[in-house]
Amino acid sequence: MGTSGYAVLAEGVMKRYGEKRALDGFDLAVRPGIVHGLLGPNGASKTTAVRALATLLRFDSGRAEVAGLDVAREPRRVRTRIGLTGQYAAVDEILTGRQNLEMFGRLFHLGAARARRRAAELLEQFDLCDAADRGVKGYSGGMRRRLDLAASVILAPQVLFLDEPTTGLDPRGRGEVWDSVRTLVADGTTVLLTTQYLEEADRIASRITVIDRGRAIADDTPDGLKNRVGGDRIEVVAGETADLPAVVKAVERVAGAGPVVSDEVARRVHTQVADRVAALTEVARTLQDERIGVEDIGLRRPSLDDVFLSLTGHRTETLDEEVTV
Ligand SMILES: Nc1ncnc2c1ncn2[C@@H]1O[C@H](COP(=O)(O)OP(=O)(O)OP(=O)(O)O)[C@@H](O)[C@H]1O
Ligand SMILES: [Mg+2]
Repeated sequence: MGTSGYAVLAEGVMKRYGEKRALDGFDLAVRPGIVHGLLGPNGASKTTAVRALATLLRFDSGRAEVAGLDVAREPRRVRTRIGLTGQYAAVDEILTGRQNLEMFGRLFHLGAARARRRAAELLEQFDLCDAADRGVKGYSGGMRRRLDLAASVILAPQVLFLDEPTTGLDPRGRGEVWDSVRTLVADGTTVLLTTQYLEEADRIASRITVIDRGRAIADDTPDGLKNRVGGDRIEVVAGETADLPAVVKAVERVAGAGPVVSDEVARRVHTQVADRVAALTEVARTLQDERIGVEDIGLRRPSLDDVFLSLTGHRTETLDEEVTV
């Protein structure tokens, strides 16, 4: 038995493909009972990490423990305690949702009656009752993913690995999958979820490990990660281009560590601030005293994209997250 107390633990895990080090001393510690996000861009080795931890891929060196068991020494026992949803859906298109779940149940040796019962339970839990007896071909992306999730928790695993469970889904489908994941965690499952979506990690994970080129480059709470880029920002959009210099001056008075950045085309001025409310109040008052019209003024929390940029020097694509005051 492992003694770490972590649901998932990786220490210095190495995996080479020829010359390429896909995992290059990968470290990870996932506390039980939470959603832990593994966040990284294309090719960062998220799938490789998940496959290594889920015993689908033998790693070269280092140590890993899942659900209290050593992954390299007891892969079979590990498999009885985990579930996995891969990057691409595994359900059969021709069968109905119910038939898929019953088939997986039989594959896991549940016996016909228990497989039927478990399928019915899961259809209920994942909100698929209405579509249960329709062919999966006609399911929406979100429904398919939920069915995939249901199939991976047939044996009620302690630890569930989800490899990019919402890639390709529209916002609604994504929301549905997040709801299902939250339900699982509320029932005691530990979830390790990989994602390229910074917003997703922020929304659903209570802890995030950032992975880049096979190595963990940060491990923190979503807020902790955001704070690393220097806290909040004030942003002012001037009403007239001619007012920009005055706006810059007003913003300079409250600037924290970073520079004051002025974008003439967008008529936008922004900078980091130490005390968000005081900064906002002061800038608003100064501009009002000087009778300078603004189109918009607000505070913005740094997005995880800003964090990624500051950690790795390269950017990933995401929408900035606006916070209104
Ligand atoms: N079987 C393999 N043989 C050789 N190289 C591989 C193999 N599998 C993965 N790689 C390489 O390892 C690196 C990590 O790949 P991996 O699929 O784990 O990344 P990922 O973070 O899951 O990316 P994505 O976001 O695109 O799913 C990539 O450079 C990939 O080309
Ligand atoms: Mg992948």
